Amino acid sequence: MNYYITTPIFYPNSKLHIGHSYTTVATDTIARYKKMKGYNVKFLTGTDEHGEKIEKSAKAVGTTPKEYVDNIVKGILELWEKLDISYDYFIRTTDKSHIEGVQKIFKKLYDDGEIYKGVYEGLYCTPCETFFTESKEEDGKCPDCKGNLNTLKEDAYFFKLSKYTDKLLNHIEENPNFITPEARKNEMINNFLKPGLEDICVSRTSFKWGIPVTFDTNHVVYVWIDALSNYITALGYLSENDKDYKEYWPADIHIVGKEIVRFHTITWPAILMALGEPLPKQIFGHGWLLINNEKMSKSKGNVIDPSILIDRYGKDAIRYFLMREVSFGSDGSFTNESLIKRINFDLANDLGNLLSRTVAMIEKYFDGELPLEQKNTEYDKIIIDLSRETFYIYEEKMEKFMFSDALSSLWTFISRSNKYIDETKPWILAKDESKKEELANVLYILSESLRFIAILINPVMPSTSNEIFRQMGVPDNIKTLESSKEFGIMPKNIKVSKGDIIFPRIDIEKELEELEKTNVEKTEDKVIKKDEEKINIKEQITIDDFFKIDLKIGTIIECERVKKSDRLLKSQIKIGNEIRQIVSGIASHFSPEDMVGKQVVVVTNLKPVKLRGEVSEGMILAASNDDGELDIVTISKIMNGATVS
Ligand code: MSP
Repeated sequence: MNYYITTPIFYPNSKLHIGHSYTTVATDTIARYKKMKGYNVKFLTGTDEHGEKIEKSAKAVGTTPKEYVDNIVKGILELWEKLDISYDYFIRTTDKSHIEGVQKIFKKLYDDGEIYKGVYEGLYCTPCETFFTESKEEDGKCPDCKGNLNTLKEDAYFFKLSKYTDKLLNHIEENPNFITPEARKNEMINNFLKPGLEDICVSRTSFKWGIPVTFDTNHVVYVWIDALSNYITALGYLSENDKDYKEYWPADIHIVGKEIVRFHTITWPAILMALGEPLPKQIFGHGWLLINNEKMSKSKGNVIDPSILIDRYGKDAIRYFLMREVSFGSDGSFTNESLIKRINFDLANDLGNLLSRTVAMIEKYFDGELPLEQKNTEYDKIIIDLSRETFYIYEEKMEKFMFSDALSSLWTFISRSNKYIDETKPWILAKDESKKEELANVLYILSESLRFIAILINPVMPSTSNEIFRQMGVPDNIKTLESSKEFGIMPKNIKVSKGDIIFPRIDIEKELEELEKTNVEKTEDKVIKKDEEKINIKEQITIDDFFKIDLKIGTIIECERVKKSDRLLKSQIKIGNEIRQIVSGIASHFSPEDMVGKQVVVVTNLKPVKLRGEVSEGMILAASNDDGELDIVTISKIMNGATVS
């Protein structure tokens, strides 16, 4: 039985944050669970390295796009290693085999009449690398990231997406699990499919960092076509070695965040239909990890660096937190406090204590070697019955990717096992030689409970699971999911080996203070101190922050004084094909005649304001010094509409 599962491939535009780790840990949890169920799992992840945004970021730091991404990808690989991500394929869209695969896919679609050449005129969101049609645009803003959309006009290739509207609707209807959870399915049907799809532009000529179209090399393939194809190029689709493709495609599941469900449930299946290939069986769109109710993102400056947390608390604490705290499918919040509380209460108190108490008692009362005793007392039966019940709830929830509920039922079992110690009072039994067998039985039940727990936490906390197996001396043949259904199969003379405390308790207040200091956000936002030699600058910003400012070259075609103001000039500025009115406080430095004809730099995405009753839609860049001098920033060559970056 094969099982092919994927995460999205990540943009290596900056270091990954805890939100990216969330997607990947969830996918890894499913992959490990399916392996335990006996599937032959293939797990794909990777990096999505092309696009204008990467090209610009690389340029901004004076490096090539490839060097730029190489550096970030290295960090991503280290992060996945630190988080125990058990992937089988790590695909980079700059891999030669992927590039060739995408070129063949594009050519095949073109040869088959699925792609045609035309002219694209429309709106594009650079951060999301997405084209938008007028109808879906909200006030010139990207519906996903709320950033500004740019107008683009260029020769382009189009994919005949429109012809797949009905086919997609039928497929969704016939395959109820194709898009999950249900809310995402309804969103796709009502917002995109029912209104009807439009053909999409699948090539670009305005930048170079992409996969060239082989038969028209001015064009690079649209990044989403490039990126989505990774799921099959990784398996060798259209290559000489397509063994994996034949064996593992169609994918059993694509795990994706909710903002990219549209690409995975509409664009991607339509491309596969056009290629005549089978569709993935399921797409699951999970929610976001939020900070103060906002999606974490580098551009908002609210990212949490997973590496810092892993170094402080260990990978399994982070993995557990991510899978326990948020109900998979919905949005959930990340706070330092909730993380530390989970570690203290669930991991240190409940799980850690159960293990350390059991191992310590076996060492103390039986020199580390426990004789097999099974008494089946009333107390034992409660534990044994609860283990069976827990298994079934756990399995049902894991099958539905309800990780939090699966863990919650397991933690009920852990708490009950701790209560069992309080009920049976082994330290009292130990005082009475005639109760030795009873004592051995209590510790045996606890050992079995720990084996059961170690198996069930394995997909979420693999190294803690192995540490419990090691400390409890569990033989390999009874570490399987199947064997967790049986209680009382630990062999005679269990030999325990004490280890370090698996989750040390944390002083919450002290730790919160420390975390505030080490938080990435804070370290990156620090203000450079003014000193005598240095220029006085404001807070540092990221390159993403800089790209939020839309700077364009405009030509001043008219200018006049604003009535009843000796400070303000009102200019009509031609930017590309648009004419904007901008009011500037420069009348004491320039006459209107001075201004006409100047090629100026305009901030085009400032919110419009009214000055002395006149609307001002942007700002002209000017320089001033402490002596009160002022000059306008101008450029000599006529480049009306050009972007400044
Ligand atoms: N490159 C595209 C995917 C192409 S797949 C063919 C992309 N990359 S991404 O790096 O921006 O995002 C990768 C995944 O991380 C997405 O599923 C996204 O939803 C997820 N997350 C990014 N921030 C997140 C949170 N704050 N919370 C949860 N998931 C988050 O999209």
